[in-house]
Amino acid sequence: MPDFSLTPEQESLRDLARKFARTEMAPHAAEADRTARFPEEIYRKAYDLGLTNLNVPTEYGGSGLGALDQCLIVEELAHACGGMTTSIIANCLALEPILLGGTPEQKARFLTPFCAQYGLASFALTEPSGGSDAGALRTRARREGDHYVLDGEKCFITNAPHAGLYTVFATVDPERRHKGITAFVVSRSTEGVLPGKDEEKMGHRASSTGTIRFEGAKVPVANRLGEEGEGFSLAMRTLDQTRTPIGALATGIAQAALDHAAAYSLKRQSFGKPIAQHQAIQIKLANMVQAIHAARLLTWHAAWTIDQGARGTLESSIAKCFASDAAFAVADEAIQTFGGYGYMKDYPVEKLLRDAKLTQIYEGANEIQRSVIARELLRAYE
Ligand code: CAA
Repeated sequence: MPDFSLTPEQESLRDLARKFARTEMAPHAAEADRTARFPEEIYRKAYDLGLTNLNVPTEYGGSGLGALDQCLIVEELAHACGGMTTSIIANCLALEPILLGGTPEQKARFLTPFCAQYGLASFALTEPSGGSDAGALRTRARREGDHYVLDGEKCFITNAPHAGLYTVFATVDPERRHKGITAFVVSRSTEGVLPGKDEEKMGHRASSTGTIRFEGAKVPVANRLGEEGEGFSLAMRTLDQTRTPIGALATGIAQAALDHAAAYSLKRQSFGKPIAQHQAIQIKLANMVQAIHAARLLTWHAAWTIDQGARGTLESSIAKCFASDAAFAVADEAIQTFGGYGYMKDYPVEKLLRDAKLTQIYEGANEIQRSVIARELLRAYE
């Protein structure tokens, strides 16, 4: 890790993502945000370039990228639009439980046809009664012969209304808390699988977030990932992998905010000179670049840790938590640099604050990240 240079392959991945972000995403970001449009044509193009199934090995038709490679791409995409990026990378989150918990037969059966054409998948863990307390989920899975019957409701699920495949966490016995949680791969076409409406959100408006109801949905036992009761650990191990790219996503939003603020500060005049020449603004820019630099390095370090084969629980929570808090603070300072214009929708920075906010909440609220960090830290002192 002390060598921070990227390989030629990583440089070209980053260039590919940057070009796509600037030419295909950025020109549509403001309009998709204003109208809350789900720009599926952009997601299809991302698939064509190999930017959607980043973590799936090439033998199953994915891009076969490591964690650091993924982060390089995600930061570039998020610079153009955080919401679009969340929808583009949601497949990585949804498919990770199959990669971690699926048998070779299940991986071939689910991943190969899925990756062979454009498609979206969703990770269905969160429920209306308690998102942070994942161990208390209530969606029931009752075994009946060679299938399970699913009943319950999921909420805040990225891409849910548009996805064809769901990885679903349900309990075979709520009394057993996390020891009853079991993971399933569920096709959208299953009878009794009822995706709900798109939520109207503050930010990430080019992304889709919705509910899914399960009403007597019959899922073959062959679609269960691992054994009964192994679903909670699978969900946690998945989030260990996917929180690091959220650090990269937040870093991309923060970098965009700084780029806008710095450029504006050189153009905008006050008291007879560009505001960039006022110390008050210079201090803001200096603080912003420090936060971004630290967020990027923490994210790269977490990604490197995962690429070494380690779990990375501590490192990924630190990266996600720090980078998302940094993104919110940097976007806030960017608005302040723009002054009254920053508050107006004609300028790009207020969107960045709204988009940054979600990164402090999803994939585990930052309060949960701090709890994970503290637990991991204290373990070393026991
Ligand atoms: N890897 C493997 N196993 C783990 C683990 C990890 N990272 N973390 C915990 N476990 C295991 C523990 O070892 C323990 O196992 P045993 O029973 O064998 O001892 C078991 O899981 C229970 O662990 P805890 O006692 O720590 O569980 P808890 O109930 O206290 O909850 C929590 C822990 C960290 C708070 C967890 O509930 C959590 O992460 N909550 C947040 C959920 C979340 O991130 N949701 C976001 C969903 S994705 C999303 O945002 C939607 C989207 O589409 C973007």
